[in-house]
Amino acid sequence: MKNSLQEFILTADKTGYVSRSNGLPMLLSMRSCLHLEGDVVEVGCFKGCTSRLLQMALERFGSEKQLHVYDSFEGLPEKTKEDGTPLYEKGLLISSIDVFRNNLKGCRMPKIHKGWFEDTLPTGLPERICFGFLDGDYYSSIKVSLEHVWPRLSPGGILFVHDYPHPKFVGVAKAVDEFARVNHDVFMRVYRNSVILAKVTQFVCGQEIDV
Ligand SMILES: C[S@@+](CC[C@H](N)C(=O)[O-])C[C@H]1O[C@@H](n2cnc3c(N)ncnc32)[C@H](O)[C@@H]1O
Repeated sequence: MKNSLQEFILTADKTGYVSRSNGLPMLLSMRSCLHLEGDVVEVGCFKGCTSRLLQMALERFGSEKQLHVYDSFEGLPEKTKEDGTPLYEKGLLISSIDVFRNNLKGCRMPKIHKGWFEDTLPTGLPERICFGFLDGDYYSSIKVSLEHVWPRLSPGGILFVHDYPHPKFVGVAKAVDEFARVNHDVFMRVYRNSVILAKVTQFVCGQEIDV
């Protein structure tokens, strides 16, 4: 018999990082989106700790969906005034494609998009997305992620944005709040150190309408 999802996370998560950062709600959210049109994206993948879990979970859930991951692999960009005094500064969190691939050994390899989000997201996202994990730490990184990922998110799809309530990543909350203020199809729910953004739709006489 398969072990529980919680046990699965503890064995799949080699570092313990994801388990501490909302592994269970993230995977439950992703699972609830797998019947929707589109692939899965992780914007800000670093060394692949969460990518590994997402990919292994897709396989466990019997899904053929492609995981796309995005990162500079050169660490964080320049912060902006919206970020205040963040936990990490420019150039920290440097990784490499080799390290990423090594951490994903044994899994179907995600499609890796190397570069700054502003360069890779406009043309490198899948046509449709059912679930996304946004983990770019800075105001400008989350802002550009939302701008490009949200329009491709299927109705009913979910974005999980890491560090939303984090006092050392104030730019994340600022970017999300600004986005939600002008996009009325965003349903927000803070969960521990993340925020869940679901794309809501309304149906009138069977027709989908803008909300
Ligand atoms: C906190 S780490 C991601 C951790 C990863 N999601 C995990 O769970 O293991 C943030 C990553 O975002 C990347 N990043 C942040 N802003 C970026 C940008 N504008 N363009 C490209 N990469 C960016 C950094 O290089 C870093 O690897």
